[in-house]
Amino acid sequence: MKIIITKDYEELSAKAAEVMLQVVKQDPQAVLGLATGTTPLGLYAKMLADHKENGTDYSRIRTANLDEYKGLPKDHEQSYAYFMKKNLFDGLGIRPEQTNIENGMAKDAQEECARYDALLERLPRDIQLLGLGSNGHIAFNEPGTPFGSGTHVVTLAESTVKDNARLFKDIAEVPRQAFTMGIRQIMQAKKILILASGANKADAVYKMAKGEVTEQVPASVLQLHPDCTLIADEAAACRL
Ligand code: GLP
Repeated sequence: MKIIITKDYEELSAKAAEVMLQVVKQDPQAVLGLATGTTPLGLYAKMLADHKENGTDYSRIRTANLDEYKGLPKDHEQSYAYFMKKNLFDGLGIRPEQTNIENGMAKDAQEECARYDALLERLPRDIQLLGLGSNGHIAFNEPGTPFGSGTHVVTLAESTVKDNARLFKDIAEVPRQAFTMGIRQIMQAKKILILASGANKADAVYKMAKGEVTEQVPASVLQLHPDCTLIADEAAACRL
């Protein structure tokens, strides 16, 4: 794992944008694996600014997102589909048909997981962006998820529900289940970029990068990927 430590979140976002833009400029038809959460927001703002200033072309880019809350429709303010549209896709002119995400409202969850797995097979990702849960999760693959897992429905860890509650009016509104891309598919991306910011991620960053590779710390699997870069600010990297 290549590790880049930045002085703050601003520099982390700038470095992440360099990596992402390199992929997009090299291949205007690249497939981008994208992530939600607060960590990638700075990167997304940089991509939007670059698109405005330099006209970087996204008209043929395709995207695949990591995860989606089960039970939220795509126009729900807290759905990840809505988050992506609002924070990235609309500003870059990325049309809905270029994008992919699990359908949180799917009637048959097993069928939806199989559909997403098949789609990811047809759409190998050039880069997979990841955030890091404070308990070491990636996407919604919570501790204990087998490394060989495909897309599946998870019941969120109580710590994840608490972490994500800040984005909802009330903790009771946080969905308890979600669809998530599996660890197997995350590892299939040609390149992985994982971002971590803030002292509350320091323990997870340490375990991910320097600890034992174990299913109890899902992100530790990234030590086995041939082209994975971690960008962490000083606060998140303080235990390295
Ligand atoms: C959520 C998401 C993850 C994200 C993580 C960290 O649970 N499913 O994909 O990486 O939280 O979020 P944040 O960047 O807001 O700390």
